[in-house]
Amino acid sequence: MRTHYCGELDTSHIGQTVTLCGWVHRRRDHGGVIFLDMRDRDGLSQVVVDPDTKESFARAEHVRSEFVLRITGLVRARPTGTENRDLASGAIELLCRELEVLNSAETPPFQLDEHTAVSEDVRLRSRFIDLRRPEMQNRLRMRSSVTSTVRNFLDSHGFLDIETPILTRATPEGARDYLVPSRTHPGKFFALPQSPQLFKQLLMVAGMDRYYQIAKCFRDEDLRADRQPEFTQIDIETSFMTEEQIMALMEQMIRELFSKHLGISLPEFPRMPYSEAVSRFGIDRPDLRIPMEFTDIADLMKAVEFKVFNGPANDPQSRVVAMRVPGGAEKISRKQVDAYGDYVGQYGARGLAWIKINDLSAGMEGLQSPIIKFMPETVVNQVLQRTGAQTGDLVFFGADKAKIVNEALGALRVKVGLDLGMLECEWAPVWVVDFPMFEQDKDGNVTSVHHPFTAPSCSPQELEANPLAALSRAYDMVLNGTELGGGSIRINREEMQQAVFRILGIGPEEAEEKFGFLLNALKYGAPPHGGLAFGLDRLVMMMTGSHSIRDVIAFPKTQSAACPLTEAPGAVPQKQLRELNIRLREQITE
Ligand code: AMO
Ligand code: AMP
Repeated sequence: MRTHYCGELDTSHIGQTVTLCGWVHRRRDHGGVIFLDMRDRDGLSQVVVDPDTKESFARAEHVRSEFVLRITGLVRARPTGTENRDLASGAIELLCRELEVLNSAETPPFQLDEHTAVSEDVRLRSRFIDLRRPEMQNRLRMRSSVTSTVRNFLDSHGFLDIETPILTRATPEGARDYLVPSRTHPGKFFALPQSPQLFKQLLMVAGMDRYYQIAKCFRDEDLRADRQPEFTQIDIETSFMTEEQIMALMEQMIRELFSKHLGISLPEFPRMPYSEAVSRFGIDRPDLRIPMEFTDIADLMKAVEFKVFNGPANDPQSRVVAMRVPGGAEKISRKQVDAYGDYVGQYGARGLAWIKINDLSAGMEGLQSPIIKFMPETVVNQVLQRTGAQTGDLVFFGADKAKIVNEALGALRVKVGLDLGMLECEWAPVWVVDFPMFEQDKDGNVTSVHHPFTAPSCSPQELEANPLAALSRAYDMVLNGTELGGGSIRINREEMQQAVFRILGIGPEEAEEKFGFLLNALKYGAPPHGGLAFGLDRLVMMMTGSHSIRDVIAFPKTQSAACPLTEAPGAVPQKQLRELNIRLREQITE
């Protein structure tokens, strides 16, 4: 129907007769002449409809926003002074010869160029209109290019694209499962995969050697700006590769993506042990664009009078840390300091002590702080020395259980860094390595830091002797404080897998019931294997500079895991429930 896309026209087409198909983005009536901005996936072109073309002009008079038109006309240069530099086709216009209305449109629920004031719920309910917006089209285009580059990269490195089941058994990735009732097995349920983890391991046992899949994953968990209940992984598994080789290959793939699609050459990916990340930044996914870090000062605070500090200083489960904000004394007002105090309160911190260094050479006189009166001058000096504080700086303090200090000051570090525009670079990737195998939850239960198939870097005997001290062969790729992907070398021996299940309190019967198929497979020549998975949505979100994961998914769910467009999840008729042998505890209304 068309000869060209709207956004494709430029001065090289001057003098040609072309046909465009698309939507009316805007219509302007300039008394006698009608201007139509025609829009399609590629961009905009201005069309001029002259009264000379009588029929077309009459039709153009009735055209409104979002009508679908087919227009044939002559490409000509815009008169000098009327060019639009913001538009690829801004130097030309199309003089309409023929205008055909392919379809009319009701007034859209929101203007496509005034979207900022529109609530997300409204946008999602009319997603087919929201997706017409150029920025949404560009994001989905980037997503498509990214998957295409990833496929090409992996194909050329010998990876096979293999699909794994959606109707399956639970995969333990730490979230709740989405369950699907089985009609043919009354009372039994499938679980949707939280990841293809177990199947990709079985594919390695099967000798497939290198696998990948752009895989849908389902997790019923609390949603945030970078989480969806249904999301996509670039899922990868390899045999006979070391963690170093896997990391190197994956780093190469991410570099290629950034250079090809954004023209950005990412810096080297440094490696950082988990313990260092938590100690310096309070978090296992540090944002290394921000040049601030924690300084431990518990040893200096053991004997001070100040209870807020000496309590945690003498408790092995707690931390006392200082964080120097360069230039903070000048840039952060008293009011703002209090606001930061409220901010860390959200993370459970009971306060936010601080010292402003107005004049380092003036000793205690040059300092301003609610806490120095509780401390000997020597201690204050040691703190300042250790943090490297200079005149004009501000130092924040956190003292509490380690988890609270890490979360509160870790979040504060990012907030202050962004508020004060302290970013040292645009992109700061890092591999976080040497994770612990296990952690203890608040009830004292031992849980996997990654999933229970991750290999430890010690023997089964050493692992069982001291599980909480064991490190794993896992690695996470972190970019600007976001975990883009993570993986590990897996356990490929049954003996080790059994040891891990024992430590996790998964008894032989439960292990057999849940993972018997995996344990069985490990008996039949499972090769050394490992891999990782990237969050495709998060990757595209970062590459397009989007603030929400929902902006890079065509039909996302809301924060409450619903779809306003289709109104899923929905009620189902009684008949269907009966077939599934399900009776609801409260009667549903049909
Ligand atoms: P993991 O659980 O770390 O590992 O997930 C891998 C990556 O997937 C992304 N991700 C999400 N993205 C959007 N919404 C979510 N709810 C969500 N949850 C996770 C993150 C994360 O880094 N099977 C292992 C991988 C492996 O070991 O190979 C796994 O699923 O970017
Ligand atoms: P207080 O004596 O409780 O008024 O606290 C004195 C200063 O210490 C105030 O600036 C508080 O914000 C701060 N503070 C209180 N508790 C903590 C804590 N757990 N960590 C860091 N600072 C704190």
